[in-house]
Amino acid sequence: MTVQGLKEKKAGGDKIVALTAWDYFTGALAEAAGVDFVLVGDSLAMTVQGETDTLAVTLDEMIYHTRLAARACRSPLLITDLPFMSYQVDSEQALRSSGRVLKETKARGVKIEGGREMAETVARVTAAGIPVVGHIGLTPQAVHQLSGFKAQGKSVEAARRLARDAQALDEAGICALVLEYVPRELAAHISGIIGAPTLGIGAGDGCDGQIQVTADLLGLGAWVPKHAKVYTDLRSAATAALVGYADEVRQGAFPREEQTIAADEELRRAIEAGDL
Ligand code: KIV
Repeated sequence: MTVQGLKEKKAGGDKIVALTAWDYFTGALAEAAGVDFVLVGDSLAMTVQGETDTLAVTLDEMIYHTRLAARACRSPLLITDLPFMSYQVDSEQALRSSGRVLKETKARGVKIEGGREMAETVARVTAAGIPVVGHIGLTPQAVHQLSGFKAQGKSVEAARRLARDAQALDEAGICALVLEYVPRELAAHISGIIGAPTLGIGAGDGCDGQIQVTADLLGLGAWVPKHAKVYTDLRSAATAALVGYADEVRQGAFPREEQTIAADEELRRAIEAGDL
């Protein structure tokens, strides 16, 4: 998948399928599922690193996780989240951070959070030949400014601001726009007024595609956000499997002979003779 391919999907009315990945294993799952777009999202601060928000993850860590996912993700468009404070200072910082991602990993673009205040940054990074995905609505890096992980754009005034943000980012050259946790009617409206494909998360089916955090769909997290659907409960299945292992070890039921190797005749005789 390419940036041009995303545009063609929007033009043709084909839904774009996007997931997150954070290592070789999740990258391989996304590749096998045939998704169009894989984001190494800074949500890995929560799903992998056990943080309560996304603020602590560093650019070095995002680069490390992108390298792992990239080894498995050959077909989807691979994009890396620029983490908190790796691009907000100014457009030069954003360009340097984006450049590191593209030089040190196989990602083909970066994602940044924020509205029209990020338009100059988007223009500068895309002018350097680096695709940029925008992200508005619930922007997790602003969790404290937003007073929590809350839906955005619910009033007419807030919705108007988000629509203007989307247009400013579109004019600045984004290749796609994540719309997170906004009313579905607003997301459909924004999808209709900008050229860039929109990827909704908690934003309804009027978007050009959907993006979800893979850990949520697989039931790996401790809780499930309202916008996610658990397609399989791997946390319960995996816990039951490991409890089974623990029980069998304690009862002496694991390992059995078939999980071991036997000493040959000479070694057995030496052990029996106390000759080791
Ligand atoms: O970090 C992330 O996983 C994201 C998605 C929620 C879009 O930004």
